[in-house]
Amino acid sequence: MRLDKFLGDHNIGTRKQIKEYVKNGRCSINGSVATKPDVHIDENSDEICFDGKVLSFSKFHYYMLYKPQGVVSATTDGKNTTVLDLLADENVRGLSPCGRLDIDTEGLLLLTDDGELIHRLLSPKKHVDKIYEVHLRDEISDEAISALTKGIDIGDKDKDGEPLLTLPARVEKKGSDEEGKPVIHLIIHEGRFHQVKRMLEAAGNEVLFLKRLSMGSLELDDSLNPGEYRPLTDNELKLLGVNEN
Ligand code: URA
Repeated sequence: MRLDKFLGDHNIGTRKQIKEYVKNGRCSINGSVATKPDVHIDENSDEICFDGKVLSFSKFHYYMLYKPQGVVSATTDGKNTTVLDLLADENVRGLSPCGRLDIDTEGLLLLTDDGELIHRLLSPKKHVDKIYEVHLRDEISDEAISALTKGIDIGDKDKDGEPLLTLPARVEKKGSDEEGKPVIHLIIHEGRFHQVKRMLEAAGNEVLFLKRLSMGSLELDDSLNPGEYRPLTDNELKLLGVNEN
C-alpha cells in the first residue's frame, strides 16, 4: 500500500499534512528516512516509524470537524454540501457523523467509522454531556433558568401520552456578543431533535446562534476555523475510552 494511505490509516494527519510531514523527514521505512508520500510499502513486513515511534495498526478513523453553518450533518444529500464533502481529501468510506447538528448550527462534530464509539456517545442511557454556546434574542430570566434546570416541556410525550420533560440541564450566563445579544452556555445530556432551540422556545426565548463546544470529554479545538478538521489526538482517544490496537 502507499505510505500516505498507511499514515492516514494511523490517524497521523490529513492527506495534506502527511505530505508535509514526509517532506520534512518525520517518517522512516526500515530505518531510512522516507522522502515520497506515494512510495509503496509492505504494511505486513516493513517497519514504519513516525517521529521515531513505530506505528501499530489502527482499525478505525476519528476526525474532529468544525462544522460550519450551511452544511448538513449527513453522508449524502442531493442539494446541500455534506460534512463528508468537507473531508474530500481523505478516504471517507465508512465514516459517519456522530449525531447531527442543524444546518444553521456550527461547532464540534466527530466523524468516525467506529460504530461502538458512536453508540456510546449517542445512547440516551449514557447521558453524555454536550455543551452549547447559545446567543439569545432576550436576556434569560431567573424563571427560565429554573425551568431549564429542572426539566422543561418541549412538546414530547412518553409512551402513556404524558409530557416527557427534558432532563435537568445547566445554564451558565456568559455576558453578551458583539451585537449586545445575551450569551449562555447550556449543558444538556440528551440529543432530541432541535433540542436546544425547542428548550429555549419553551422558556419564552429564541436562539439566534448555536455552536456546539463539546461532547463528553471531546472539546472543539479552538485553532480550527469553520470547515476545518483534524484527526483526534492519542490523548483525546484515550479520554474517549478508545482502545487503540
Ligand atoms: N439543538 C438544536 O436545536 N440544534 C442543534 O443543531 C443541536 C442541538
